[in-house]
Amino acid sequence: MTQDELFKLLVAHCKEYGFIFPSSEIYDGLAAVYDYGQLGVELKNNIKQYWWNAMTRLNENIVGIDACIFMHPKTWVASGHVAAFNDPLIDNRDSKKRYRADVLIEDYLSKIEEKMAKEVEKGRRKFGDAFDEAKFRETNPNILREKAHYDDVHSRYVAAEQANDLAEYKQIILDCGIVCPISGTKNWTDVRQFNLMFSTQFGSVGDDSNTIYLRPETAQGIFVDYINVQKTGRMKIPFGIAQIGKAFRNEVVARQFIFRMREFEQMEMEFFVRPGTEMEWFRKWKENRMKWHVTLGMGEENYRFHDHEKLAHYANAATDIEFRFPFGFKELEGIHSRTDFDLGNHQKLSGKKLQYFDPETGESYVPYCVETSIGVDRMFLAVLSHSYREETLENGEKRTVLGIPAPLAPIKAAVLPLIKKDGLPEFAQKVMDELKYDFKCQYDEKDSIGKRYRRQDAIGTPFCVTVDHQSLEDNCVTVRDRDTMQQRRVPVAELRSMLDAEVNLNNLLRKL
Ligand code: GAP
Repeated sequence: MTQDELFKLLVAHCKEYGFIFPSSEIYDGLAAVYDYGQLGVELKNNIKQYWWNAMTRLNENIVGIDACIFMHPKTWVASGHVAAFNDPLIDNRDSKKRYRADVLIEDYLSKIEEKMAKEVEKGRRKFGDAFDEAKFRETNPNILREKAHYDDVHSRYVAAEQANDLAEYKQIILDCGIVCPISGTKNWTDVRQFNLMFSTQFGSVGDDSNTIYLRPETAQGIFVDYINVQKTGRMKIPFGIAQIGKAFRNEVVARQFIFRMREFEQMEMEFFVRPGTEMEWFRKWKENRMKWHVTLGMGEENYRFHDHEKLAHYANAATDIEFRFPFGFKELEGIHSRTDFDLGNHQKLSGKKLQYFDPETGESYVPYCVETSIGVDRMFLAVLSHSYREETLENGEKRTVLGIPAPLAPIKAAVLPLIKKDGLPEFAQKVMDELKYDFKCQYDEKDSIGKRYRRQDAIGTPFCVTVDHQSLEDNCVTVRDRDTMQQRRVPVAELRSMLDAEVNLNNLLRKL
């Protein structure tokens, strides 16, 4: 099965089992807007809790806030979003479809990378154990030709990006013969800029002065509240402010399911530091955030850093943590050293002093800031796409499993009476009562036990707790492990501590 087919199955699975639905589906949905269903919301909340507790509990100098989505319009002038939060757009005249010019070029570059990877695979198969990949890449004529072409397009692309040269974007698209995936033609319009912020009217008078934006990032709520938090919390630099909340972007090309949405959720932390120390903190936060990801146990090899060649207008260093999604390594989280750009501009535009008096140096300054920013939905997709698998069992039966890291699983345990009579349901309800205060559990008595196990595997429940006739005598239950499918007898009195050791989020936090 190709990764593409697997991804399609995952999307269907998310809907079938109540993780994610297209928004307003009865009206045929709304492009790039999705709702989280009854299981999706549990997984999403667990991801948020893992992040929130890692930030605000493990770091005494990080506090949280919850700022509003609506902010004073000047906020977005100061942040640079009104002037520069644009995507380069291009239309195909035949299909009437709109694309991001930069994405067309990046996809083209990825295809060259894929071609080179395929060539390497061929070499590996041909030479077996004696294969030396580095040497092969240096000498194989096909790879050398593709590499030279890649380098040429890539350097033109980076230069165009840096110079914001829209005509050059179009020229690269024409020179590379990039065609519209729908019409197959090269009948392109010129490239032009498109601002990604959604706007609406605030109050009852609908003129321009009342135009307000839906926030395109949560970070600015932190910057405008910075001085309030610093003063009321008596925070000393270095310190951080964390926030989880909705953000909105009128994405030109919204695709790949919840990877790029028009309404999404961010978990952002702005860490304020003394100017001159920002690179040291940038390195620390890179390490810290990578550890947060790897601790989940989804494979160190599935993450990598991607340092930015072109820095955003506000940054003096930036990197992405990329994850191996089914459609390749893509950005999951951004870590940016934002200098004093945001606080400095808010200070200028608001006329309010946003300086910090440093008792250690006796100086006043506008603090520098290191930001960590991750999309909740992207993290959700990373977890689900990594977890989804189809297995053929020894008896030839198939099972679909979501191997979600146990502390993030929506349902931690399913309680299942073997049959619907003989006092087993009553016993099982008592087990539910014992567990429900600590864990999200599900009671299920419908269908055969095999079918119920499959249903729980498909939603990622790490443990099934089965009550049988013997339970009535020995007060023990059978606990089945989702991944190994092995079963063991556990006294009901020990069930809570057994589950706790496996599924409690705090166990992850202790490893950080
Ligand atoms: N405050 C900095 C900032 O917003 P960003 O790289 O634009 O930086 C940060 O976004 C993270 O937010 C991304 O790494 C990604 O996880 C998530 N994100 C951004 N745009 C998104 C979208 N349209 N849909 C889903 N997640 C998105």
